[in-house]
Amino acid sequence: MDDCRIIQLPKISDPRGNLTFIENSRHIPFDIKRIYYLYDVPGGSDRGSHAHKTLHQFIVAASGSFDVVLDDGSHEQRYHLNRSYQGLYLCPMIWRYLDNFSSGAVCMVLASDFYDANDYYRDYDEFKAAVARGKP
Ligand code: TYD
Repeated sequence: MDDCRIIQLPKISDPRGNLTFIENSRHIPFDIKRIYYLYDVPGGSDRGSHAHKTLHQFIVAASGSFDVVLDDGSHEQRYHLNRSYQGLYLCPMIWRYLDNFSSGAVCMVLASDFYDANDYYRDYDEFKAAVARGKP
């Protein structure tokens, strides 16, 4: 859990509109293989509720805001993301869910690997058992 953190991104302020960029492994601690985003999330919806065995991710509120709740099997931490120029780095073996989406929120996720259904824990008890074993 200690490795998970908010990372500030470069912000080029401009009266025409601001610009932020993310460069592979320079601004975030992994190489990016995949980008996906959540949008049109109805008010009151939750997303996530899983952990990854090996995947590293970086979550940005590209628009609007939402909360990300992290759980390493022993304690929980809630982050409110509402800035396009910062994001939350998630290391492997962290259970997470996202809630409190504002209207128009866009949750952009940069990931260290392609989609792989086998990399997921979707059952919280299985995740806890793996944490207890000390293995992904
Ligand atoms: P899911 O993991 O349930 O979304 P979230 O955790 O954000 O609530 O994914 C929803 C569906 O999308 C599921 O069928 C898997 C599929 N999916 C892909 O095909 N590729 C991807 O990169 C992701 C993240 C999901």
